[in-house]
Amino acid sequence: MKLYADTADLNDLETLAAWGVLSGVTTNPTLLNKVEGEEEDIYRKVCGLVDGPVSAEVVAEARGEMVSEGRRLAAIHPNIVIKLPMGAESLAATNTLASEGIRVNMTLCFTAPQAILSASAGAAFVSPFLGRFDDIGQSGLTALKEIVEAFAMADYDTEVLAASIRHPIHVVEAARMGADIATIPPKVFYQMLQHPLTAAGIETFTADSQARGARGSTEVSR
Ligand code: E4P
Repeated sequence: MKLYADTADLNDLETLAAWGVLSGVTTNPTLLNKVEGEEEDIYRKVCGLVDGPVSAEVVAEARGEMVSEGRRLAAIHPNIVIKLPMGAESLAATNTLASEGIRVNMTLCFTAPQAILSASAGAAFVSPFLGRFDDIGQSGLTALKEIVEAFAMADYDTEVLAASIRHPIHVVEAARMGADIATIPPKVFYQMLQHPLTAAGIETFTADSQARGARGSTEVSR
């Protein structure tokens, strides 16, 4: 499973890119609002930091405007993927953009029928949302499992991109279910890195190494 960062924050992206774990980035209007600067400039900088698909979401609502906005965003950088919200207008816009070689990420997918429609319209990625489904008392992971299984049986090329991830367990379960990609907020990446036993182990090894240095390397600790 590939890992994407779900953020437009350039500092976090720089940090995570240096770990060597990022295969792409997803953004949305809410995430973009947290970053200062012009939209196109932000996307250019994100593409400069991470060498992989970078989802940029359109805000137009009618298919014609969606296509125009999608073409404008796609012209910023070859790695830009156009993110469209699930719906009839988006399916039509996906069909046009895909026919022009512009990749689409269908976002706000909650069900297998929505994902199947998106794949059939030519979306390169579908984004089932986990956390937002959990928020209304239903299981985002159950929906993800259904989509992954349906896509495997139907042999779609469309990649399943698990989104709206809230904690490390979502990431592990998405991997176990066979999602192609998980897009992860920086906070969750930092949670994934840590364990108290790792920190305690490092502390012990550092103390023992210092003790050996202090008494000379030939004596043995008992
Ligand atoms: C990803 O493509 C989505 O924009 C994102 O994962 C939404 O996450 P949220 O539900 O935590 O806002």
